[in-house]
Amino acid sequence: MTQLENTTSQAATGDLRFPEGFVWGAATAAYQIEGGVALDGRTPSIWDTFARVPGAVVDGDTGDVACDHYRRMPEDVGLMRELGLDSYRFSVAWPRVRPDGGAVNQAGLDFYRRLVDELLDADITPWLTLYHWDLPQALEDAGGWTNRDTAHRFLDYAQSVYDAVGDRVPTITTLNEPWCSAFLGHTGGQHAPGRREGAAGLVAAHHLLLGHGMVVQALREQGAAADLGITLNFTVADPHDPDDPADRDAARRVDGLHNRLFLDAVLRGRYPSDVLRDTAALTFAGRPWQDVVRDDDLAVIGSPIDVLGVNYYHGDAVSGRPHPRPVDEVRHPGRVVGSPFPGDTIIEFPRRGLPLTGLGWEVQPDGLTRLLVRIHEEYSPPPMFVTENGAAYADAVVDDRVDDPDRRAYVEAHLRATHAALAAGVDVRGFYQWSLLDNFEWAYGYGQRFGIVYVDYETQQRIPKTSARYYAAVAATGVLPGDDAEGWLA
Ligand code: FCB
Repeated sequence: MTQLENTTSQAATGDLRFPEGFVWGAATAAYQIEGGVALDGRTPSIWDTFARVPGAVVDGDTGDVACDHYRRMPEDVGLMRELGLDSYRFSVAWPRVRPDGGAVNQAGLDFYRRLVDELLDADITPWLTLYHWDLPQALEDAGGWTNRDTAHRFLDYAQSVYDAVGDRVPTITTLNEPWCSAFLGHTGGQHAPGRREGAAGLVAAHHLLLGHGMVVQALREQGAAADLGITLNFTVADPHDPDDPADRDAARRVDGLHNRLFLDAVLRGRYPSDVLRDTAALTFAGRPWQDVVRDDDLAVIGSPIDVLGVNYYHGDAVSGRPHPRPVDEVRHPGRVVGSPFPGDTIIEFPRRGLPLTGLGWEVQPDGLTRLLVRIHEEYSPPPMFVTENGAAYADAVVDDRVDDPDRRAYVEAHLRATHAALAAGVDVRGFYQWSLLDNFEWAYGYGQRFGIVYVDYETQQRIPKTSARYYAAVAATGVLPGDDAEGWLA
């Protein structure tokens, strides 16, 4: 990768200019938008199964139809072209490409061949994620990510995708947010496969990371031209009371399990010693969980990468003392879930009085600047891209328009935060909105809208929101206007 010219600047007007070549994109994920779950040979993923567990997803929503993107893909690429996006980050559905985790299904692969063709024809650069949470159910039945063999199956699957489109996709990332797959999926039970088995989350995290490393190593050995990497999701863990040792320790543990477990493994080839110490007594299948880590695994996991995807929504105030819980009732109406932090005795996330999105997530743009600067300073990472950032609000169509001032402000604030990191010398190469479209928001179903484009789920009509027009205007110029943003946009 060539270093972007350092043209980051702040004009006297308060306008912020991004570097030449900064990538303006939007992201989605297969299960959240595609629908067509039984078309062309696709078989169920863990999310098809989990969505049918009573109480697992708000209102019992499923991804069966979603945004019908599997059939409307050319129109959706047309929409991206109209918005002037440079790049589109999408994920490939493993159960389309290798149904049941078995043999290659050409019909499933063809969809992604066509998608890549459409994107390139529209001058939009594809950014491909291999795994955004839709493990074939048949592999889960054989133990899923707690079974080491799944990492080998992941390599087989990745190879099939690479053989089909690898020559035309400049960036291939292995996993999206392994923290969620591992800990929401196996420890807390909020996400598929919905297991609540404590240290199973750590075992799953290790096998996910192993799969990542195996794929990077294998594609590298084949001389892959694509940049290879991974997308991690981070929090910024601040002690609720910095003077309270219990809060400081809780913040350390959250930072360890959420951030450093993954950063240290991928970028340093080791697990953080404090996390290993904290979790040493936890067992999986009757043995210490750390027994699953074999001699050379961390060298594989630490294979050099070319890009690091950073997903950021908000940080957290963390406390090691009991606090009232404000939100989680919205999320899992009829199902018991637990802490996603294995070995958690007490970890609480008290609110700080910051503005909240529709999902109750705090709006904390300065956390993004701090996160990017911290990773830059502590890890000397490869070039970073913000591969997800966005907010859910209750949008409404009025006179065929969707005005979303809160999201527009959220977008602006986080672009400013990214610019601040650039100005501090951090190598950030691009930004992807989560999400291009309103879609199936996992355990929250369709009630939470993250799109910069509104989707009417009855008619499948797409309506770009004010935030999309704002983002398109910024993308077209590479400039974030100062105070008179609304006038500038008109
Ligand atoms: C991230 C996921 C993405 C979406 C956003 C809101 O954790 O990667 O699929 O659900 O959150």
